Amino acid sequence: MRLISQIMQERKRGDKPVAYIRTYGCQQNVADSERIKGMLEIAGFEFSETVDDADFILFNTCAIREHAEDRVFGNVGALKSLKRKHPQIVIALCGCMMEQEHIANKMYKSFPFVSLVFGTHSLHRFPQLLYHTLADGKRVYERDNDDKKVYEGIPVKRDGTFKGWLSIMYGCNNFCTYCIVPYVRGRERSREKSLILDEARQMISAGYKDITLLGQNVNSYGKTLADKPTFAQLLHEIDSIDGDYWLRFMTSHPKDCSKELIDTIANGTHISKHLHLPFQSGSDRILKAMNRHYDRKKYLDIVNYAKEKIDGVSLTSDIIVGFPGETYEDFKETLSLIREVEFTSLFTFIYSPRVGTPAAKMDDPIPAEEKSKWFRELLDVQEEIAAKRCASMVNNTEKVLIESETGKNGELNGRTSGNIIVELKGDKSLIGTFQNVKITQARNWILKGELV
Ligand code: 5AD
Ligand code: SF4
Repeated sequence: MRLISQIMQERKRGDKPVAYIRTYGCQQNVADSERIKGMLEIAGFEFSETVDDADFILFNTCAIREHAEDRVFGNVGALKSLKRKHPQIVIALCGCMMEQEHIANKMYKSFPFVSLVFGTHSLHRFPQLLYHTLADGKRVYERDNDDKKVYEGIPVKRDGTFKGWLSIMYGCNNFCTYCIVPYVRGRERSREKSLILDEARQMISAGYKDITLLGQNVNSYGKTLADKPTFAQLLHEIDSIDGDYWLRFMTSHPKDCSKELIDTIANGTHISKHLHLPFQSGSDRILKAMNRHYDRKKYLDIVNYAKEKIDGVSLTSDIIVGFPGETYEDFKETLSLIREVEFTSLFTFIYSPRVGTPAAKMDDPIPAEEKSKWFRELLDVQEEIAAKRCASMVNNTEKVLIESETGKNGELNGRTSGNIIVELKGDKSLIGTFQNVKITQARNWILKGELV
């Protein structure tokens, strides 16, 4: 049997077979792409930043909103001429869109130049699927596999050398009525704690300074495991590993956010003082229709406990504007909640109906222009709050992880423990190190500072 590497040696255009992976959507997709790159690296591939010189092109797709899907359709369509010019290149699609039958079928039919299509549950089978595509010369289409298992031991090639993702669980059981994730990523399942701890140790000794634990709802970590460890226990055990690093996590669901977790953050050594706690809507009526299992009061109780216990906590959230049946009165409840909490930053979305979810069948009488008006109002209010929040940090000295050059001569970007961007002057040799930075100025949601 020939190996993928041998077949690709014959199909390559340059010295070595080159792969190009484009990732749409959330950090879970980024983490999946890093696993795919790990598998391709073992098969002898190099990686490129553009499609032009690639022998293998893979788009890892996102289904969360219509806009994300439209971009994928447009960008895959644009590959047609490249394939015509270089018929030996292999084009593949994977990710959340491919777990939706109607979408995967449509893509498979509309884009005959795509050779391989597979969904999120088939990630561990990628080498076999690619092998079949290459060896048999046939189109391969696989979706909707078993979603109950956790597959371990898949190699990884991380994009960053000092910031990295660490998946602790997969899937979601919450079925928020607007959300497609439980349908495309399957039921919730956790990785064994010992394996997560091993991977965290490896990342820390490899020099990772900023590690984010990933899951759709990290607060329910452990429920599928025999000894039922809690997320707070896992976080505490990772935090006990020696080293100079920050530990973050996302995403937390307010319904499961325990005081034990907040105490663990407050007492932690490496855990960043940042809590990303999506509330989605400030209106109890809408939260109920969204199937979120908490109300405004419960959300504010957790936030107030976090503010009391975690000195200088930075709070961020996701918000949906224009859920079916939402009125301007409901929306005003969202505005009042963001004023009350004073978030550092927000991820804001206009509701996008997803086929197969309960919300997609609900009456949605508010016109799109009206929703856009509310959305802009939300952004204006948040800008004011973020500016105030950032201004309150002027003259503080903050520990900052230096991440990149800004593009302006001699300027660097970094991030605080609370995940706020800081711009400062400094040499690029500082990238990937922690520095103490005196905050000198606040500009909306960005800080300016000087090395101490
Ligand atoms: N429309 C708009 N936003 C959505 N989100 C999830 N589903 C939808 C949808 N159908 C948002 C939620 C979630 C974030 C990842 O994406 O705010 O927290
Ligand atoms: Fe979607 Fe809700 Fe699960 Fe988050 S918790 S992934 S919003 S269903």
